[in-house]
Amino acid sequence: MDFKLKYGDYALITGASSGIGKEFAEQLASKGLNLILVARRKNRLDELATSLHQKHKIKVKTIRIDLLKSGALDELVDATKDLEIGLLIPNAGMETHGNFVENSLQTETDVQKLNTQIPMQLAHLFGAKMKSRKKGGIIFISSTFGHQSVPFFANYAASKAYILSFGQALNYELKQYNVDVTVLSPGLTKTEMAINMTDIDFKKMPITAMEVTPVVRKAINALGKRQAVISGTWNNTMDIMGKFMTPRWVLTNMFGFLINRATIKNN
Ligand SMILES: NC(=O)c1ccc[n+]([C@@H]2O[C@H](COP(=O)([O-])OP(=O)(O)OC[C@H]3O[C@@H](n4cnc5c(N)ncnc54)[C@H](OP(=O)(O)O)[C@@H]3O)[C@@H](O)[C@H]2O)c1
Repeated sequence: MDFKLKYGDYALITGASSGIGKEFAEQLASKGLNLILVARRKNRLDELATSLHQKHKIKVKTIRIDLLKSGALDELVDATKDLEIGLLIPNAGMETHGNFVENSLQTETDVQKLNTQIPMQLAHLFGAKMKSRKKGGIIFISSTFGHQSVPFFANYAASKAYILSFGQALNYELKQYNVDVTVLSPGLTKTEMAINMTDIDFKKMPITAMEVTPVVRKAINALGKRQAVISGTWNNTMDIMGKFMTPRWVLTNMFGFLINRATIKNN
């Protein structure tokens, strides 16, 4: 299968200024896809665009948008109206953790909007065009935290459960139109998101942070083949043990215990 023919001309990646999104940009550029990179930190996008253009001779458009701002999607559709988007990666996301009721309601609402509503709306807008073209692909980013309830990440984990469910269902709906959908569930991955969780000592949990390269490679290799993939052998093992050996309520309690124990408390 010619990747560029199937998923070109452009891949649109939200949250491309760092972490997993930036790595998607690098790996897709090496496959010859042109790119549309979206995030708030435009200087980072522009630096990445220059280096990818020089290295791979591809076209790269950068768009500075705060996806939480009202009218953001109209702006994005307008800025890309002349470009054929064959691959959509609604990757931009944010997390909150701690006691849900003590967190800011506005921030929790933003988590839900950025992690669920925006990917759903992007998939509707660009998926419809892929369906009529009868080609294309979408890679959603869930999380291993989306595979069960996670106390102290209650809203974040629920947002990722939504993406997993939604993406797998869309895989079924769209495959008859030659549009491939895959959901990637990374475990803890070495990005700004993970680094910024300074009040959690992940060494106290049975998880190891992965580098972004194999995480993203897993999703790209799965596109067109798998509905959903989890990155990392250990994360897959944990998922199998969880699904087939442990009732859901036990997993919820186990995560509650582990995250509470790993949280560095100031008082
Ligand atoms: N790292 C992990 O352990 C892990 C595990 C499972 C799943 N994930 C998921 O992977 C995805 C990528 O996260 P990451 O780990 O790569 O974290 P990251 O390095 O913090 O990247 C987050 C990206 O989202 C963008 N973003 C955040 N808010 C935005 C907004 N309002 N409008 C536009 N863009 C916005 C950020 O760009 P700007 O700040 O420049 O706007 C950045 O490019 C997320 O969906 C996350 O939930 C991560």
